[in-house]
Amino acid sequence: MAETKAKRFLSLFLLLSTAAATSKNTTIDFIRQSCGKTLYPSLCYSSLTPYATAVQQDPVKLAVVAANVSLSKIHDASSLAAAFRRSSAGRVSAALRDCVDTLGAAADLTNRSAGEITKLGDASKTGGSGEIAWEVSNAQTWMSAAMTNEETCLDGFDGVRAGKGVRAMCDRVGGVKKYTSNALALLNTLVHGS
Ligand SMILES: *[C@@H]1O[C@H](CO)[C@@H](O)[C@H](O)[C@H]1NC(C)=O
Ligand SMILES: *[C@@H]1O[C@H](CO)[C@@H](O)[C@H](O)[C@H]1NC(C)=O
Ligand SMILES: *[C@@H]1O[C@H](CO)[C@@H](O)[C@H](O)[C@H]1NC(C)=O
Repeated sequence: MAETKAKRFLSLFLLLSTAAATSKNTTIDFIRQSCGKTLYPSLCYSSLTPYATAVQQDPVKLAVVAANVSLSKIHDASSLAAAFRRSSAGRVSAALRDCVDTLGAAADLTNRSAGEITKLGDASKTGGSGEIAWEVSNAQTWMSAAMTNEETCLDGFDGVRAGKGVRAMCDRVGGVKKYTSNALALLNTLVHGS
């Protein structure tokens, strides 16, 4: 009697843990497949899989999470630019000041883009596909403007002799552009399908 109960319990446990493993596996597969459509798939995969629980297999949530990740990278780079600016002078200081401005604009645009697609959760419930196209199109416009601002930050250093630290900051901004590019690619999947 007790043995049967224990057996039943064990098979129930095995069933549940298999189900959990499978569903986790599929979310991971979903993220991997979606990231395959970006320009930097392994960066996409490694930065977004920590949010698998929030993403599930929802392409809108994946795009929001990607925008959130990009936003936090922009904030990091912007803090770095502001810190270097305090100890720099001349053209380097001017370029850093411009970076703080353009990265600030990039952060606003990324946040706005994330806010716009967050609304999609509601739009898909009401079934307004025209509304979805409109919101995704706004989000794409803002995300691509964010990338332009990141580029403008880097352009400011053309022909400027910067030290090692500032050059490292530029590399960091180059990395930020990859996160933004990925977030934009994931937005594109919302309207272009597969
Ligand atoms: C789960 O992941 C493994 C390893 O990545 C893969 O071989 C397997 O096909 C996946 N299973 C499902 C159900 O997707
Ligand atoms: C994205 O960030 C916002 C603000 O921090 C947060 O409210 C939201 O839950 C995040 N979205 C996802 C899907 O993680
Ligand atoms: C985005 O901006 C809104 C206000 O416009 C703010 O409440 C929210 O915290 C911001 N999100 C992030 C992730 O900074």
